[in-house]
Amino acid sequence: RKSVWRLSTGSKELDEVLAGGLESQSVTEFAGMYGSGKTQIMHQSCVNLQIASKIFAETENVLEKELPNPKSVYIDTEGTFRPERILQMAEGAGVDGQYVLDNTFVARAYNSDMQMLFAEKIEDLIKGGNNIKLVIIDSLTSAFRNEFTGRGKLAERQQKLGRHMATLNKLADLHNCVVLVTNQVAAKPDAFFGVAEQAIGGHVVGHAATFRFFLRKSKGDKRVAKLYDSPHLPDSEAVFRITEKGIQD
Ligand code: GTP
Ligand code: MG
Repeated sequence: RKSVWRLSTGSKELDEVLAGGLESQSVTEFAGMYGSGKTQIMHQSCVNLQIASKIFAETENVLEKELPNPKSVYIDTEGTFRPERILQMAEGAGVDGQYVLDNTFVARAYNSDMQMLFAEKIEDLIKGGNNIKLVIIDSLTSAFRNEFTGRGKLAERQQKLGRHMATLNKLADLHNCVVLVTNQVAAKPDAFFGVAEQAIGGHVVGHAATFRFFLRKSKGDKRVAKLYDSPHLPDSEAVFRITEKGIQD
């Protein structure tokens, strides 16, 4: 088994909640309302993958053998990928933005079938010699939610989502990738608070994601990320900021 490596989120506090950064060989979910920073974290991760000092490995071998010319795949289901924002974040981090873009494959998925197909095709990119080390699905659930409406479609939706999550977990395991997914939240009745927010996708998503975050807006450019239900890490919160330079403390 290959050793796990970690990718910085850009925020030390958030990295600490993750015991060092976003882990390879697992799926990490960021759920939250609009504007909570999900897409910004996805963009920053593509930039950080190209910065050697933002990659932390347990053994140096991993860095040498697996990370030369690492590449990202960004599956964009909402049309919110912004190359200009990548350039801006790269400039903030002091790296060549065009180099980051050249090493980021962006695929716009217009429906859930395309989304699933793109995820399955990543294997071919890897076989073709691309060292894919970061896989992003932004958003994991929006297409599924739009297409499978009503109770009658719920079983089919969950079954497909389950297959999709299996594809992602397999990529993470076999190729030692960091896999990040964004998710929306919905209000659900809650015994104590009247309503509470819950990530979409039920346990199909819940069980398939190793690390789960809820993001919420705080004052100004501040955001709070809460890690919950992780098998090995305690529930805890980090505060980070979204600035011109990107994700920061
Ligand atoms: P949805 O996809 O709509 O559910 O939201 P999201 O969670 O993906 O939000 P996103 O990551 O797009 O965050 C949007 C927020 O990031 C904005 O409200 C801004 O506060 C901040 N932001 C986005 N782009 C920039 C930028 O270029 N500069 C700065 N300083 N902040 C930005
Ligand atoms: Mg978004």
